[in-house]
Amino acid sequence: MLPGLEGQWTVEQLVDLELQKDPRFTQVRRSALPPEFWEARRRARNRERTLRNYQRRRRKGDAQREEDAARKAGLTPEQAAAYEAQHEAAREAAKAAAAAQRAAVDEAMASGLRIAIDCSLSADASDREVRSLCKQLQECAAANKRARRPVSLQFAGFAGAVRSFAVQGMHADRWPAAVGHEAPLAELFPAKDLVVLSPDAEEVLEELEEGKVYVIGGLVDRTVRKGASLGLAQRCGARAVRLPIAEHLGTAALGSSKGVLNVNDVFNALLAVHAGDSWHVALDAAIPRRFRQDAGDQQGQQQAAEQKGAAQPELRQEQQQDQQQGLVAAEAAAAEAAEGLRTESPQAARQQRRPAPTPCGCCCS
Ligand SMILES: C[S@@+](CC[C@H](N)C(=O)[O-])C[C@H]1O[C@@H](n2cnc3c(N)ncnc32)[C@H](O)[C@@H]1O
Repeated sequence: MLPGLEGQWTVEQLVDLELQKDPRFTQVRRSALPPEFWEARRRARNRERTLRNYQRRRRKGDAQREEDAARKAGLTPEQAAAYEAQHEAAREAAKAAAAAQRAAVDEAMASGLRIAIDCSLSADASDREVRSLCKQLQECAAANKRARRPVSLQFAGFAGAVRSFAVQGMHADRWPAAVGHEAPLAELFPAKDLVVLSPDAEEVLEELEEGKVYVIGGLVDRTVRKGASLGLAQRCGARAVRLPIAEHLGTAALGSSKGVLNVNDVFNALLAVHAGDSWHVALDAAIPRRFRQDAGDQQGQQQAAEQKGAAQPELRQEQQQDQQQGLVAAEAAAAEAAEGLRTESPQAARQQRRPAPTPCGCCCS
């Protein structure tokens, strides 16, 4: 029995009590709650959020239809027909744009610039780190799906807990614009093509070369593992490069994170540069403002304050609760997740890789 609660409760009942803010639950010591409770609560909250989003979309659609009907009511039949034709043309244009974007993604996946995220670095990560990493992978896939210039996004060493959680917990088989390989990096690409991104590298990344594979370390630094990606580069015999943050934004932009960015922030910066943005623009957009506050970036502070003030109070409260558990919702990226993550067996991956690999024989996995 949990302290503060009389009687026997199932995990689901406890979750209901908590979500309904039942006064009985306020007495419960949170640290006494079992892991199954937090997992069930996460799922329940995701379900609620999905439902809220669905209802919001329904309301928006209804409002749009009412507005259309009101507009058309005051029109002559000819004007109404012209109005309808205009809307139909806009719908067709949107469909064509979506189809063109899908084709651009397919083409990039087959022959575009390759960016690999090496998930094997998270082989011994905690459940919480695995969840955060999967969330970041999902955001990368979603960003690639809508990118101005998509890339060939590959997850290497996509196996074990990361794969299980991504597929079972986050429906990775429906993620867009990414391919997951169980095989390790060394089996997927020739060592000479690899360029490992590492915040600890001395060499600065200046430009993206088409023939290279840019490797982002698939790990979440809750307990900082300094040198993890640098070690990966050394094991692979690959070049290691760091993002030119200090060079283009000044050392203040390194902030409290010391220039160590999340996987998806690094991916977004690379995507933007690949699409033609300058490093300054790409990094400025990719580096979260909160990283710069401690460094005294006044503009960053001001924008963060404005964003904070503009956020809806209940949304903020929800985000804070999620962050408490390290479980920021996967909602935005999930909405993008309309098509499948093309997961592959190591054998299929070997058949499809290009150009013919020269395994470096290192222990990159
Ligand atoms: C959260 S960081 C992990 C940092 C970890 N301590 C390490 O040694 O790689 C995730 C990945 O993003 C990339 N990354 C983050 N910040 C970077 C930077 N400033 N320059 C280059 N790569 C960076 C690296 O590939 C890194 O492995």
